[in-house]
This record gives sequence, structure tokens and C-alpha cells, in this order.
Amino acid sequence: MRVYFDHNATTPVDVSAADTMIRVLRDEYGNASSVHRLGQQAKSIMDEARSAVSTLIGAEPSELVFTSGGTESDNFALRGAAEALEPTGRKHLIATSIEHEAVLVTLKALARGGWRTTLLPVGESGIVSPEALKDALTDDTAIVSVMHANNELGTIQPVAELAAIARTKGALVHTDAVQSVAKIPVNVRELGVDLLSLSAHKFNGPKGAGALWIKRGTRIAPILTGGKHERTRRAGTENVPAIAGMGVAAERGRLKLGADAARLAALRDRLEREILSRIPGTMVNGAREPRVPNTTNISFERVEAESLLIALDLEGIAVSTGAACSSGTLEPSHVLRAMGLPTHRAQNSIRFSLGAGNTDAEIDFLLEKLPKAVEKLRSLTGARR
Ligand SMILES: Cc1ncc(COP(=O)(O)O)c(C=O)c1O
Repeated sequence: MRVYFDHNATTPVDVSAADTMIRVLRDEYGNASSVHRLGQQAKSIMDEARSAVSTLIGAEPSELVFTSGGTESDNFALRGAAEALEPTGRKHLIATSIEHEAVLVTLKALARGGWRTTLLPVGESGIVSPEALKDALTDDTAIVSVMHANNELGTIQPVAELAAIARTKGALVHTDAVQSVAKIPVNVRELGVDLLSLSAHKFNGPKGAGALWIKRGTRIAPILTGGKHERTRRAGTENVPAIAGMGVAAERGRLKLGADAARLAALRDRLEREILSRIPGTMVNGAREPRVPNTTNISFERVEAESLLIALDLEGIAVSTGAACSSGTLEPSHVLRAMGLPTHRAQNSIRFSLGAGNTDAEIDFLLEKLPKAVEKLRSLTGARR
């Protein structure tokens, strides 16, 4: 049995999205900028995808710029808006301390270019408080970037409330919604933001495709310059097959949203409940609500997460120790550290992230293997001590 509980790292591609991609890749090879029929067909495939993705987030198709994924969208939002806002004299950027590296490392790069940056603290809940933003916000703040759902914990940030606060000082608001789109309803108007990043491979679309939603009228400079693609906001011949796949995944994600969310929440809650009751020394990290329905992050006392991950992998179960890019290192996750958890607890943490294909039988399988794996690792540690 192979069981995949790592959907926050990436998801399997939806079968009809894959079929569409293969057809487009094989038959629709036109350049969407070409005037002839093949080019126009490619353009119309992109238009369809643009419409599906914008419907998923309650946006206008013309406000969407296709990118190579979440990382590029975050870079575009921050670097592009920072460049456009430079002439205003504002020199301050705010983000939360639990953002994805795509935001955090980009902020560091901007700081080297003279921008002042503030990272908002989070408490043990893994949720940013409006007070923290009020304290950090100044007349000098150009951009506030707050992720919607955290990738490691699943906690949902009060983006609408924070955006309203940021607006009182005239700051632009960006949200990295890579982990919330198609998991919970996401509506750009309700969130009250100016910029929103999303990534196809987190909602059963292909890797290397994403979008940045840019509210009409928002000042932003392109970070990829060249041709006039995407209304001169992102140069480069578009990856039409991937964009088509993202469109199909967006449409299917939207239609299944309510039913999937309820089913996944029930599975996740059972998994969480059973782990806490069957395995002593276990704790859920971060607030349990509000959370996206598919994610839980659990600490196992006296168990090194990397060892548990490997033990589970040998049983055919895929989980994660936090952000995929920090796996393979023993660095405790920056998210858990930002919450003030002691290093050992951060190093004992496993993220289980569920997706559309997961079943009750798979939860049963995990619940059969996990307690034994934990017990074994604990007995080894005990023997060594
Ligand atoms: C919250 C968040 N932002 C951004 C990204 C980066 O997205 P991509 O993998 O499409 O570059 C990820 C992916 O792990 C993520 O979880």
C-alpha cells in the first residue's frame, strides 16, 4: 500500500487536467501571440483557463497574470510592487514571521537593497494578531504581505481584518494564498487585498504554473521584461499546456470544494483524534481553528521527526517534517520556532496533509503503523540514553 499524506508539498495531477495537458501539448503547439489560427487557438485555450482560475478566486480574468508558480508570484508581488512604490518614498515592508521562503527570502533581498523590513510575530496559535500589525505599521509602510493559510500548520490568517488595518495607512496588501486556494473558499474582494499568489500544483494542477492576481489599478512593475505577453506584465512565451491544466484543475477544484472540504476535515479530525488518544506524548501544533481542512501538524515527544518520516516511508506512507525545502536538514522549521516552541518540540513535528484521493482505509493503515513506529523509535532513544 502506498499512502500519500503530503499534499501541502504537492498534489497528484487531476486526470482530466493531465489529459487536457497532453492534448494541448501534442496538438495545440501554436504561440499564443501568433496571429494565425494555431496561435489564436492557443490564446483561446489560455482565455478559458484564465476565466476558470479567476472564477475560483472571485476575480476578473483581466486581473490575472500567469506565472511559473507560487514562488514567482510572490517574487513578482513583492519585487514588482516595491519597485513601483519606490517613487512614493515609502521604504518599509511588513510580512509575518511564518511566511513561506518565497516571501521571506525575497524580503531579505529587498532589505539588502535598502528596504526596512518587519516580520510580525505569532504566538503559539500560529496566527498573527491585528495588534501586532497595528504596532508595526507606519506611514512609511509600502506593502504588507500576509499568507492566507500556513503551509506547515494549516492555520488561516485573518487576512481581511489585517488588510483593513493596512489600508488605514495606505499600504498595499499581498496575500500568498498558495495553500488556501481550492481548499477553502477564497474571494479576492472579500479578502480586501491588492495582490494574491496561487500555484497550480497545490490544487491538482501541474507544477510550474501559477498566477498572480493584481487588483485593477494596482501599481506594479514587471520582474520579467521582454515581449508584451500578459499585457506587458510578464514577458515570455506562455506555457500553454500547463496553463490549460491549471484551468481544468481550477474548475474541478471549484466544483468539488464544499464536498471535499467536509470529507477531508472529517478524515483529518479522526486522524488527529486517534493519534492523540493512542500515542502518549503527542500534541497538535498551532490553533485547531481556523485551519484549512486537510492539514495537521503533530509533535511526538522524544521522537526525531526525520527518523519517523523515514520509518513511515518504509511502510509506504509519505508525510513531511514541515516545509519540503527544509526537509533533509535538521534545522527546526522557522514556523514552529516563530511560534516560540522549544527546539526539541519543533524537531519532533510531523505534518500530515490530506488530499482528494485519501480514504478512511488509508487513515486506518496509518493508525496501524504509526504507534508501532513511534514506540520503536522511543525505545531506541531510551536504550541509547
Ligand atoms: C505558502 C506557499 N507559498 C509559496 C509556495 C511556492 O510555490 P511553488 O512551489 O509553486 O513555487 C509554496 C509551496 O510550497 C507554499 O506552500
